[in-house]
Formats: sequence, C-alpha cells, structure tokens
Amino acid sequence: MSVAEPAQQAASKPLDVSRLRADFPILQEVVNGKPLVYLDSAATSQKPESVIQAISDYYRFSNANVHRGVHALGERATEAFEGAREDVARFVNADPRGVVFVRNTTEGLNLVAQAFARPLLGPGDRIVATEMEHHSNLVPWQQVRDQTGCELSYIKLTEDGRLDQDSVEGLLRPPTRLLAVTHVSNVLGTINPIRELVEQAHEQGIVVCVDGAQAVPHMPVDLKDLGADFYSFSGHKMLGPTGTGVLYGRPELLDKMPPFLTGGSMISVVTLEKTTWNEIPHRFEAGTPDIAGAAGLSAAIRYLEAVGMERIRQHSAELTDYAQEALSEVPGLTQYGPRGEDRTGMVSFNLEGVHPHDVGTILDREGVAVRAGHHCCQPLMRQLGVAATTRASFCLYNTRDEVDCLVRGLGEVNRIFRD
Ligand SMILES: Cc1ncc(COP(=O)(O)O)c(C=O)c1O
Repeated sequence: MSVAEPAQQAASKPLDVSRLRADFPILQEVVNGKPLVYLDSAATSQKPESVIQAISDYYRFSNANVHRGVHALGERATEAFEGAREDVARFVNADPRGVVFVRNTTEGLNLVAQAFARPLLGPGDRIVATEMEHHSNLVPWQQVRDQTGCELSYIKLTEDGRLDQDSVEGLLRPPTRLLAVTHVSNVLGTINPIRELVEQAHEQGIVVCVDGAQAVPHMPVDLKDLGADFYSFSGHKMLGPTGTGVLYGRPELLDKMPPFLTGGSMISVVTLEKTTWNEIPHRFEAGTPDIAGAAGLSAAIRYLEAVGMERIRQHSAELTDYAQEALSEVPGLTQYGPRGEDRTGMVSFNLEGVHPHDVGTILDREGVAVRAGHHCCQPLMRQLGVAATTRASFCLYNTRDEVDCLVRGLGEVNRIFRD
C-alpha cells in the first residue's frame, strides 16, 4: 500500500496547512485533555503517514541486507538504500558520491573531526568555530584540539545574535585550517551567511564544515551553490525517521580520508595482515546500515519536495515573525536572537522570574509542547547570561493559532508566577 503524497501546489501559493496537518497522525493526539500543540520540531519533527508507511512497507516487502544478497529481496533492499542516496543528493543538489549515511548530524560532524581534521592538523594549526554552536559542532573540535595540539578559537557574536564581522575577519586567516559553523542556530534562529563565509574561508585555503541540522528542514539548501566542503544534517528533524542522518563531503576530500569506523562493508580486500578501503561513500558506512530508515528518509524528501521547499521557507519565516510579534506583547518576556530576514524556525525567550522548566511544565498542561533548557548550547547560554531558555520551534504543520495558544499559555504562567 502506498500513501498519497501532498499534491504539488503552485510555488507562489501559501501552504494549505490544515490540509497538510491531516497527513501527520500524531497531530490528532490529545495531551492533558487539550489538543496537542507541538512546538518542538527543532528537537525532532513529527512524521507524515507516507514516512511511517514507507518504513513499514520496507519491512513487509523488501527486508534483506544490502550490497551482498544475490537474491531478489537483497536487490530490493539495495535499491531502497541506494535510491535514498540519490534522493538526498537531488534534494540538496550534491554529488551522490559525497553523500554518506550516518545516524545523525552529530555522527557526521564527528566523522569529519576524526577522519579529516585529526590526521591533518597539528601544533601551529587552528580550528575556528563560533560561540553559537550546538555541542555537536563544538565538543568534537575540542577533542581534535586535545588529540593534535592545534588551537581552537571562536567567532564572537553581536548583541542581537549574529556573527561578529570583526571577529570573522580576524579569525578567517592563517593559521586557521578549518571553520566549523552552524547554518542556522538552534537557539537564536540566526541564519548564517554560509556562501559568503565559504568564499572568504576558501580564499585563505580554509576548509568549511557546516552543521545544517536546523537549516535543511526550513529552506532550500543547494550544496553546489553554498560550496561548503562538509555539510551534516539529521533526517529526524526533516520529517524522516530517527537514526538517519547525512554527511555530505566533497568527493575529492572524502577520497583521501581514512575510514572513521571499520569492519564489514567498508573494505575492498582484507588479508590477515592488512585491509584496503572500499570506494567512497561506502568507505564511511561500516556494518549494516539503517535501511528502513533510508526508505523513510526517501519518503520524507519526496513529501518535502511535493510541498515545495521555497514555500516551506516562507511559511517558517512568516510564523517566526508572527511569533516574535505576538511574544513581544507578553509582560516580562525577553526574546533572544536577531529580527529580520536572517532568522527562521524558532523563538527562544525567558519570562522574568520564572524558570524555563516551570514555563514548559505549565505550557504542557495546556497541551503546548516546547523545549526548556540549555538546548545543548551551554557556552551560548553563558553569552546570553542565562542558565536556560524556553524555545518554541516550528515546522510546516504549525499554524498562527498554535502560536496564539502559546501566548495564552504564557499568560497562564504569568498569572500563576508573577501576578
Ligand atoms: C544546530 C544543531 N546541530 C546539531 C544537532 C544535533 O542533532 P542530532 O541530535 O540529530 O545529532 C542539533 C539538534 O538539536 C542542532 O539543533
């Protein structure tokens, strides 16, 4: 059985959100006696029926191991898996030889750190990251610093949560060899100017590794246009299953890199004395991969393509603007991050005198799911001068009415804690 994908609509028309919502079974859930208002898609998005069905269909009709079987099911499974690679490559406009399946963004970034940066760098070299990075794009570089003796510095932020230009200019020069930067901040929503940063970095011979976890779900991403050397993202934040992620690496770089994990599938010839490596991207996919996950990710990509990434970009931006405006009316509320076009997907805030966990707990009573905490960005929290924030994040299925529910819920928090 196959589940209908949303009919392609004219790119100029806004999203028909109420129609799309019907594709997501979980959005019909009632939580604490209230209809679910899911505003935590930056943590993980919900999944449409077509993704759920693709995973189930894979196990019902195609389950076998990939790249090995000479039998029909083995071929079906391999087609599903390699077909997913083609889908990913088309979706982000990349060479399929550069598309490595990993478990999530975190694993992709660790792969770059250990298989690219660690063998390359040493004392006298420098890695540059930014103060807005998720721990996934920060801790792996601290590891490489400790393993190689290279230096690690951070691009500073402006008051409103953008990259500080003086700091960029000062650090994108020798001895920097690698820039690690997020495309979209998972706290501030800031969209960083990746194409410009890549141009600037490449002029100085600096390799650029981008964390795309919060960008790919919200906007068209064209990797040929951006020019980044490495770009990592998670399937589960873009309507796909958990356990799926992608590392794109420029094939010329991947070709020269040793494997990250070793074992089955990633080899060419093994003797008792030594082993030669498989071609890319298989060299970086040791062991049995998440084949069902890849089938689900394919379905997610087809769903996103049918809706249209340009319209999703507009919807995310409009909802973020609407939320920023609505939240500015809430007494005692401080918002973080820039205002403007270089911002999308989420709003982070604090209510004076109320801990974000209390905010989240009271909102949950109202059926509103948000995230409260440091969002895996402890250094950024220190920069903001807070221990934690509350974050409401959006996806293509969210509506203005849901933002209104959030604002009403915050009124309730204020009534309990502040009035
Ligand atoms: C900007 C950013 N980078 C990396 C990650 C890590 O993603 P994953 O847990 O899928 O590896 C996240 C997850 O929230 C994120 O928001």
